[in-house]
Amino acid sequence: MDFKSYIAEAISKATNINKDEIKSYIEIPKIEANGDFAFPCFRLAKELKQSPVNIANNIKEKIEIDNNIISRIAVVNGFLNFYVSKISLVKETIQKFDIQKEEYGKSNIGEERTVIVEYSSPNIAKPFHIGHLKTTIIGNALYKLYEFLGFKTIGINHLGDYGTQFAKLIEGYKRWGKEYDFSTDPIDKLADIYKRINALCEEDEKVLEECRETFKKLENGDPYCIELWNKFKDLSIKEFEKIYDLLGVKFDSIKGEAFYSDKMQEVIDILEKSSKLVESQGAKVVNLEDQGINTPCIIQKANGSSIYATRDLAAILYRARTYDFDKCLYVVGEEQSLHFKQVFAVAKYLGLDKKYTDGLEHVSYGMIRLPEGKMSSRKGNFVKVKDLLDEAISKSKEIIQDRDIENKDLVAKQVGIGAVIFEDLAESRTKNQVFDLKEALNFNGETGPYIQYMTVRTKSVLEKAGYLPDSNNLNLSKITDDSTIKLLKLIDNFEDTLLDAMNKNEPSVISRYLIDVSKAFSTFYNENKIICEDKEAEDARLYVTYMTKTVLTNGLHLLGIEVPEKM
Ligand code: ARG
Repeated sequence: MDFKSYIAEAISKATNINKDEIKSYIEIPKIEANGDFAFPCFRLAKELKQSPVNIANNIKEKIEIDNNIISRIAVVNGFLNFYVSKISLVKETIQKFDIQKEEYGKSNIGEERTVIVEYSSPNIAKPFHIGHLKTTIIGNALYKLYEFLGFKTIGINHLGDYGTQFAKLIEGYKRWGKEYDFSTDPIDKLADIYKRINALCEEDEKVLEECRETFKKLENGDPYCIELWNKFKDLSIKEFEKIYDLLGVKFDSIKGEAFYSDKMQEVIDILEKSSKLVESQGAKVVNLEDQGINTPCIIQKANGSSIYATRDLAAILYRARTYDFDKCLYVVGEEQSLHFKQVFAVAKYLGLDKKYTDGLEHVSYGMIRLPEGKMSSRKGNFVKVKDLLDEAISKSKEIIQDRDIENKDLVAKQVGIGAVIFEDLAESRTKNQVFDLKEALNFNGETGPYIQYMTVRTKSVLEKAGYLPDSNNLNLSKITDDSTIKLLKLIDNFEDTLLDAMNKNEPSVISRYLIDVSKAFSTFYNENKIICEDKEAEDARLYVTYMTKTVLTNGLHLLGIEVPEKM
């Protein structure tokens, strides 16, 4: 049962005020002693022309409520505090869980509507940096969340594979390609070539001119240029895939910006026809002042070449037609906020159905850096993400070295990667973050390994018992102590937590929740002997353990974190 709705209904009957309005005011008290739900009566003071205390007393007098469901109502300073009967809370939570069991939390609220999640999107021939790691991890979690909630999800990797830098690389490759062995660390080598050709361009205007020519050739599909460009792309993707494999991340579509190069003219034509496109210093731009954006969006440069924003606009047209999306989320760093504001604003002039333009959303995230200093690929002091992941795995291996477990390599990988993923999702995505691997691997901190450890513990308790009790025959009075009730309330809240995470596009809502569940389980475990002489108590507690295991496993899965067999 949904206790909140039940209470709202009863208050609504007692006051003749709309149930939904009442429900929206009901809170969960921060202090446990104040009950399970609270109704702040000042919300109705204006409407009823009475003091909150009077309202509270009146409602308390009039309200009709089943004592088996709500065991107590108290008036405290204009608040009505409701105490849910422990037995009914336990019963309802177990009943709700039992409808889905292992699939607990899953739902159909998406009704097959389509959500595109665009994430990762690194630039080829450039290092995959720690910011790309963050979009990959957030995007993957959102992808899984929407899927779990019944949406049709499409994961897109919008590779940065377009631009003059590839022409420079081609020119560099022509000159020095033979000097390099691309079978190892190809991106480093391409980066090196890029550095060399850039230096040469600075020295020699003629080389720069050659690069410009090559770019034109590349744009016009010159076979030799395309071949080299494909080579750079393949080498890069192979490197990125090593990271995706470690993280367990997949995409439904990997389409680079270049894919849209022949689809941009349509954008220009549409904007031109609607006379939104104006000349500004030789370039073609769209003014967005009437949408509150002071910087015009450049659509075509003075030299006729297209830009990043134009390719994003072409991609919106393409995605609307190809996927008929309801939402299209862009998991990209906050430094691109203006870019997306502009692109979404111009998209409104493309003649698309409002459904599409309303569905565009920039899911931004804050700056991320390693403790030693700011990561910047330009300055060259980046730590390679692959190295970071390998380091996390080997550190995990050190930690579990002496433990009695099989498959240490697999467990080390699950724990190391789990630690990195959790660290990236631990806090609100818009916060700036210092990524501290040591902290992430602290088994006793609020970390991925801590949750994994608690999940493994639930599994080993169930294994040790060797059976799963029938939930219909439990003596519920055995699980009404404070620590168990606290855990069950959290379990009851799983679905709401997922909806909240979805509404905010915020996986950290799930991470924080899993920390709470883990801590609550730890207290439950310390305060109750699960396998014990009292068979009724054992059965009931085992079932709570099973429910906890399911919530933790499903929650971790949504974040993209695996659960080790043992740890
Ligand atoms: N490749 C870009 C970068 O690494 C991110 C692309 C973001 N996606 C987009 N549709 N513009 O900064």
